[in-house]
Amino acid sequence: MTAFCGIDFGTSNSTVSLAGADGPARLIALEGAHMTLPSAVFWAEDGPALFGRAAMAAYVEGEEGRLMRGLKSTLGSGLIDERTVVGRRAVTFRDVLSRYISHLQAILEVTSPGVSRVVLGRPVHFVDGDAAADRAAETALAEIAVAVGFKEVAFQFEPIAAALQYEAGVRAEEIVLIVDIGGGTSDVSLVRVSPERARAVDRASDVLGNGGIRLGGTDFDRSLSLAEVMPHLGHGSSLNGGKALVPNHYFLDLATWHRINSLYTPKKAAEVKALLADADRADLVGRYAHVLETRAGHALAMEVEATKIALSASPAHRMQLKPITGGPNPMATADRLADCLAAGLARIGALITEVLAEGGLSPAQVGTVFLTGGSSDLPALRALVAQVLPGVPVATGDMLGSVGAGLALEARRRFA
Ligand SMILES: Nc1ncnc2c1ncn2[C@@H]1O[C@H](COP(=O)(O)OP(=O)(O)OP(=O)(O)O)[C@@H](O)[C@H]1O
Ligand SMILES: [Mg+2]
Repeated sequence: MTAFCGIDFGTSNSTVSLAGADGPARLIALEGAHMTLPSAVFWAEDGPALFGRAAMAAYVEGEEGRLMRGLKSTLGSGLIDERTVVGRRAVTFRDVLSRYISHLQAILEVTSPGVSRVVLGRPVHFVDGDAAADRAAETALAEIAVAVGFKEVAFQFEPIAAALQYEAGVRAEEIVLIVDIGGGTSDVSLVRVSPERARAVDRASDVLGNGGIRLGGTDFDRSLSLAEVMPHLGHGSSLNGGKALVPNHYFLDLATWHRINSLYTPKKAAEVKALLADADRADLVGRYAHVLETRAGHALAMEVEATKIALSASPAHRMQLKPITGGPNPMATADRLADCLAAGLARIGALITEVLAEGGLSPAQVGTVFLTGGSSDLPALRALVAQVLPGVPVATGDMLGSVGAGLALEARRRFA
């Protein structure tokens, strides 16, 4: 049987989907019974690379090696061919990305042998306001897909894929606004969907508006970390009796998933030692040095992310930082999180307004807002959507699987 395949390589989670000649798309199991695979690689000092939950577990259990997360953010950044040293080996992010995509391909090959054509998802913009870097990101991903064995590779915007999956469930024509708030990007598409149109090959005229920004859950993690965690590690504190501040970039790097490993070098260790000697709050900067020494940057980022997620469901949450930093376990609140997210959410609100304007529609002409992506669970995001599109019904599907499933439907449209 012919199988049409889609791969949603996400900043935080990835999925692989298959569709037959007709009928719905299905996600395939990627790790045990899980349909999602966290986009994480553990590069052991010796021994095989580990992926997904297994990668995170190896890191948490203290195995020797490097954990890498947020890899997609390196596409289109100057980092893709930058080398990072792991034990005696130096690897590039391109190598790590290739290993990860190759792992997905290997699972696909077991589940459905012989699939050689694939539609990959891509954000509307990998990079904001830089068309050349954006093209370079897509090219790099396409090269990786070919290198791991796919013979034909096509791309579709992630929110359009989500629209195709949403469309599979509609009974009548309507205009849907897809709002996909993921780990690395926020993407919005305005699409006319209907059971009849779903069968058409060319859907260009049904896409009324499209936009995206490089802002997502990993940025929310960074904002929360800088505001609520890094001050306990010396962020904002002074050097040499108030002559200068500890430079911001140390805290920015530690709060940014894909920059954490860049801190684990002898050069950084020496710099931090020098800072510590000059620090007015050696007690705080000492915690920073300790996190670097114990390679606990990802553990800290995981605790921040867990706090953010907990605050989606409850008004306050005590962060368990003591085991990681040696400092206190501070309380974080949903109100403070909302403050941290306000600037980012305003940009998402502006993005939605722009996409509506591109389609020439008022909010009232939108039939449904389809919210997807893990970050769309944030209450502040939902409040924003209700404010920008008052009274428009909101639908949600599989937050982590809609894009992937839609990509297999796209593969069927393209390759059948
Ligand atoms: N309940 C929740 N509240 C807030 N954020 C959440 C929740 N659950 C998951 N997230 C966040 O959602 C993000 C992951 O979402 P998702 O899997 O859709 O991203 P992705 O597809 O990997 O990224 P992208 O599409 O941007 O490349 C993470 O930042 C995660 O912390
Ligand atoms: Mg996504």
